[in-house]
Amino acid sequence: MLSLNLLVLFPAVTLALTPSRGCGATPKLITPSSTATPLNLTINSKPRNFFVALPKSYSSTTPHRLVFTLHALGGTASAVIAGTGGYVPYYGLPPLAANDSVPTVFVVPNGLNNGWANQGGEDVTFLRQVLATVEDDLCIDQDLRFSTGFSYGAAMSYALACALGKDIRAVAALSGNPQISGCAGGTEAVAYYGQHGTSDNVLPIE
Ligand SMILES: *[C@@H]1O[C@H](CO)[C@@H](O)[C@H](O)[C@H]1NC(C)=O
Ligand SMILES: *[C@@H]1O[C@H](CO)[C@@H](O)[C@H](O)[C@H]1NC(C)=O
Repeated sequence: MLSLNLLVLFPAVTLALTPSRGCGATPKLITPSSTATPLNLTINSKPRNFFVALPKSYSSTTPHRLVFTLHALGGTASAVIAGTGGYVPYYGLPPLAANDSVPTVFVVPNGLNNGWANQGGEDVTFLRQVLATVEDDLCIDQDLRFSTGFSYGAAMSYALACALGKDIRAVAALSGNPQISGCAGGTEAVAYYGQHGTSDNVLPIE
């Protein structure tokens, strides 16, 4: 009888869920304008900023998926958001996210000098602080953190997987390179999608 009761209480599809501190609280920092007005941090004495896109009907009682969408070398967070300069908005993910039962928050940071050199791990430090800031303010499922990006944004997603290990669910590297943003850590398996053009002459596939 016990097992039957458990079966009823916990149906076959039980998703892991680690609600962040922002669950159940009214956001104090992030607003629907956070796609236009950046949030600011100081990391290693350097000013850093990032934008956040809330889903249409954000609810502080629903744990959301969090996706970093990182720009390429020479790119900006604003271009990733607006879909200018060769980007489609947020790498084309919002129409897919809109139909998912778990709503998505997109986080769009700016690299230093429009890149992600991650010197001394400073960009990992920055993105960790971004996660802490967003997750204190919004209701995020900490088991559903993701990162994607093109070129340097892919390399930085790779570096983030190395550094965060099991604290990031998966990364998708679009034409990246495992060297340019580094890989400190890299001891835990992380779900990974990679794609690369065979004619890429900026970061050749080799
Ligand atoms: C972040 O800094 C920029 C540039 O100084 C400023 O325009 C913006 O209002 C700041 N964001 C917040 C949330 O205060
Ligand atoms: C999302 O759902 C709408 C309405 O059911 C449908 O028209 C649209 O094609 C779906 N989009 C995707 C990307 O599956």
